Amino acid sequence: MHDRLRGRTALITGATGGIGDAVARRLAAEGAAVVVTDVDATRCAELAKELSDHGARALGLALDVTDEQAWRTAVQRVLDTYGGLTVLVNNAGIAETRTVETETQESWDKVIAVTQTGVWLGMKYGGPAIEDSGGGSVVNIASIFGTVGGFGSQFSYHAAKGAVRLMTKNAALHWATRGVRVNSLHPGFIETPRSRHLWRGTPRHRAMVEGTPMQRLGRPAEVAGAVAFLASEDASFVTGSEMYVDGGWTAR
Ligand code: NAI
Repeated sequence: MHDRLRGRTALITGATGGIGDAVARRLAAEGAAVVVTDVDATRCAELAKELSDHGARALGLALDVTDEQAWRTAVQRVLDTYGGLTVLVNNAGIAETRTVETETQESWDKVIAVTQTGVWLGMKYGGPAIEDSGGGSVVNIASIFGTVGGFGSQFSYHAAKGAVRLMTKNAALHWATRGVRVNSLHPGFIETPRSRHLWRGTPRHRAMVEGTPMQRLGRPAEVAGAVAFLASEDASFVTGSEMYVDGGWTAR
């Protein structure tokens, strides 16, 4: 494994989920100190302990990405613990299976709060901290569903992920000369412990595999590898871009 993130500190949201967990493990394996955050403090502490037991510097923190005060507190805690923040991975996101017609005010507000507002708040507090720490990288986990209409369902999720794609470009331009790179990463269908349980054997599962030119689902580690690249100095001239890790789905 490379050592290209040594000396960096990365905060990951939704870090106890399928993709977030893989990202935390990969960034730690590449030498970063990792701050694993999610809504459940106990699971964050368990993951941080596991990473520490394997020699990484890791801290587990509860962080509800919709809570502005919680962001202030979490970023300050990272600065106090590690003396800086260099990488922010805005990974937390949720979806509701509703269409433009069956979406309710409640489901809309919930999905937008986590999946869109959470990314904005992360950049609002994480971006300046990264700039003050001498520069670094924000990786916003979007989706292929932030770019194309998918199956004509998950309406609010598409709205939020599309916004993540454009918030990324806007913030990238704002910070372009200030050492803060911002990119969106768009996974295709990734089989996580949770999605395996939901998808396996369903018509949707078949549609996802058959619609993916590589004829398989992706692995969390394949998303994590792309995050590590964008987080590192290998991507020093990459900002405002969108990277697809989708087995060719959006190439059609
Ligand atoms: P997951 O459901 O396994 O993990 C999401 C994590 O976000 C969970 O640990 C959950 O506790 C956390 N979370 C939920 N609400 C939160 C809040 N208010 N504050 C902080 N954390 C919160 O999902 P998965 O598959 O790991 O997805 C991670 C990201 O990747 C999401 O943004 C998702 O939209 C995106 N994505 C996933 C794809 C897939 O096929 N699995 C495809 C494309 C994008």
